[in-house]
Amino acid sequence: MTQRDINILAIETSCDETAAAVVRNGREIRSNIISSQIEIHKLYGGVVPEIASRKHIEKINQVIEEALRVADIALEEIDAIGVTYGPGLVGALLVGVAEAKAISFATNKPLIGVHHIEGHVSANYIEHKELEPPFLCLIVSGGHTHLVMVKEYGEYEIIGKTRDDAAGEAFDKVARAIGLGYPGGPKIDRLAREGNSNAIVFPRAHIEGAQYDFSFSGLKSAVLNYINSMEMKKEDINRADVAASFQAAVVDVLVTRTIMAAKDFDMKKVAIAGGVAANSALREAMANACRQNALDFYYPSPVFCTDNAAMIGVAAYYEYIKGKRSGLDLNAIPNLKIGER
Ligand code: KG4
Ligand code: ZN
Repeated sequence: MTQRDINILAIETSCDETAAAVVRNGREIRSNIISSQIEIHKLYGGVVPEIASRKHIEKINQVIEEALRVADIALEEIDAIGVTYGPGLVGALLVGVAEAKAISFATNKPLIGVHHIEGHVSANYIEHKELEPPFLCLIVSGGHTHLVMVKEYGEYEIIGKTRDDAAGEAFDKVARAIGLGYPGGPKIDRLAREGNSNAIVFPRAHIEGAQYDFSFSGLKSAVLNYINSMEMKKEDINRADVAASFQAAVVDVLVTRTIMAAKDFDMKKVAIAGGVAANSALREAMANACRQNALDFYYPSPVFCTDNAAMIGVAAYYEYIKGKRSGLDLNAIPNLKIGER
């Protein structure tokens, strides 16, 4: 007997992308619609929370309609609605949560609240049909830098995290300092290709007694100090060299800690997730390090690294088949911790 398909409608509005997707049986993306607000936030040099909420409320219905249309599925045929309920900007999250609750109430379909970071991890399942837990995952986004053991679907153990800035935040701040604008990550990635990564030696922070933790604020200060000292000396800054040297310092720390944790915890599979996982230098360095250490390496295509609803649909599916359901009292939790329910 063939099993009936499970179709999830997923909604993601935690930051500056209004996104909806339809996911079949956990791994097949029938549609993945993303309406980005980058062009508006660019004008302010970063995400303005109130503008983000207002844009979500404007776009959310069109984005969902488009996701259903592209997937060629009627709302009645959907089995459940998955939605990001944290972490993220509270006003932004509330738009998606309220929308998902309204759809769930009106159609009498189950509602599943999804953790944004668990969504990022789950992005790896989309293009790697063979990938199953356990594996080690490095999550590097604008708001998070976590090294987690994915023990089972939806079961995580945090091994390390950042003590201060997230990796993406460091990219964005350094990009602003060298005049590249928002969002900085992709711009540094591009400019770094023209620079010399050995031109300037920036620090690689190690945290005493917490070998899997990260710290990027010292590195960010070192870059700012370098720029200031060059300006004081009235010397020109080679922006490509700064970008390449900074990026090399971040990548070095991320790769070294991840490989060390994989060995220490006897993990054979390593994955990366989150916006910074789209970084070409990180992907290349991690792929090489995994090859040298006989580890299998998994990474999502760039479109599934940055915020999207497909990854939320994948995470929701695994919650759905475990029987998890959220009530109509589901609320946005801006500082939701990973693995927390
Ligand atoms: O996962 P994401 O889309 O949103 C959050 O959940 O935070 O991550 C956004 C972050 C931003 O800081 C952005 O600059 C960074 O990911 N990012 C990159 C690249 N693409 C996006 N950082 C480095 N290299 C990239 N190619
Ligand atoms: Zn994200």
